[in-house]
Amino acid sequence: MRILSYEKLLLENKAWAEEQQQSDPQFFTRLSQQQSPEFLWIGCSDSRVPADKITGTEPGEIFVHRNIANLVVNTDINMLSVLQYAVEVLKVKHVIVCGHYGCGGVKAAMNQHHYGIINHWLKNIKDVYRLHREEIDALPLEDDRVNMLTEINVREQVFNLAKTSIIQKAWKEDNRPHLHGWVYGLNDGIIKPVCEMEPGTKIDPLYEYDNL
Ligand code: CO
Repeated sequence: MRILSYEKLLLENKAWAEEQQQSDPQFFTRLSQQQSPEFLWIGCSDSRVPADKITGTEPGEIFVHRNIANLVVNTDINMLSVLQYAVEVLKVKHVIVCGHYGCGGVKAAMNQHHYGIINHWLKNIKDVYRLHREEIDALPLEDDRVNMLTEINVREQVFNLAKTSIIQKAWKEDNRPHLHGWVYGLNDGIIKPVCEMEPGTKIDPLYEYDNL
C-alpha cells in the first residue's frame, strides 16, 4: 500500500511518541504541566535550519519564533507577542537571533525583482543593505555579499531587540536576557556567533527609554 507523504508524518509521530514514552515514562506528563525554556530562538523559516535539531535541544528547552530572514520588526505584533511572553512570563535568560548563510530572503532583498507581498517584508533587509552598502558591494562575489549582509542583518536584528521596551525593562529590573547573534552554515552545520549584548549594554541614547 502506498503511503501518502503527509500520512508518513503521522506514522512517524506515532513511532516517536511510543519511543519517547518507553525511554522516559514521565516525559509527556512532565511537559504537559509546564514549560520553562531558558532560550528564545528567533530564526529563519528555512526548513534546513531547525532550531532544536541543530542545537541538540529537547522539547521544553527552547521557545521558538521563525520568520523569513529572522527579522525583528518593531511593528510585528506576532514577534513582539512571542518576545514579551518569553521575556516576561517564561523569563528566558537568552534571546538568540540566528540567521544562516545562503539565506534566500537576504538574497532576494538584494535584487530589484518584484516578488509580490513579500516585498514589504524584504524591505526591512533592503534598509539594512543600504546602511552598509559600501562595505558589502566591495566584495566581488555575490555569495560573499549575501553572506556579509546575512551577518550584518543578524547584528541589526539584535540591536532591534535592544531597542524594544520589553528588553530594556527586563535588563533594568532583572538583569537578563543576554542577547546573541548567530549565523548557521548550511554547508557544515556549524553555528558562528557574530555578536552579543549583555544585559545593560549601552545603546544609542536616542533609543533608550528613561522612564521604564
Ligand atoms: Co533564510
